[in-house]
Amino acid sequence: MSTDDLYFRQLAVGDMANFVYLVGSKRTREALLVDPAWDVDGMLDLAAADDMNVVGALVTHYHQDHIGGEIFGHKIEGLAKLLDRVSIPIHVQREEAAGVAGIADISRSDLIEHDGGDVVEVGDIQIRLIHTPGHTPGSQCFLVEQADQPGQLVSGDTLFLGSCGRVDLPGSDPEAMYHSLNDTLKKLPDETLLFPGHLYSAEGQSTMGEQKQTNPFLRVTNLETFLSFMGAG
Ligand SMILES: [Fe+2]
Repeated sequence: MSTDDLYFRQLAVGDMANFVYLVGSKRTREALLVDPAWDVDGMLDLAAADDMNVVGALVTHYHQDHIGGEIFGHKIEGLAKLLDRVSIPIHVQREEAAGVAGIADISRSDLIEHDGGDVVEVGDIQIRLIHTPGHTPGSQCFLVEQADQPGQLVSGDTLFLGSCGRVDLPGSDPEAMYHSLNDTLKKLPDETLLFPGHLYSAEGQSTMGEQKQTNPFLRVTNLETFLSFMGAG
């Protein structure tokens, strides 16, 4: 499918420097929302203004700033608000289904549970789900694959520009993070575009090649060094 088909928007929203993404097909005018925790009305309005029909949501992981819920005494609207507005499937990693339903206060029947390697299609656009445990047990990244263009990786809180997600939270696993970074994400081609879950750096996007060269968390090639680097050794 020609590259002209891909619809892709990166939107900085909310109080915690999150990115929400819209990924879809210009041909079919269908799009998926990635991590729609903040300003759900605004995101749906924006898709509508682009003449795109939101047909589903993808969830990188179950933290409140990505799916909604209560945090620090503050309620983030998230998936519950989204499902009030539109009846669409929510794609989650299987290990995180119960957590997503409980934290976002939605029904498990609204979820489609996936394994790593599954592909979600939106129009002719294919999105490969990559299971990258470490920040949380069911963290997943989304690789938007195109035949004639570099892939685009939406990495949630697994990989940031110049850093990686925290591994000192409940459910975190520093060793799993090491393997997700080294054995999974580092294998992606250098030209793959990287789109993180937060704007924690000057730029909002990078390439895997640049990150492999400059990101200290990707440059560590030894588990023991990584663990001590993360304060977990
Ligand atoms: Fe997170």
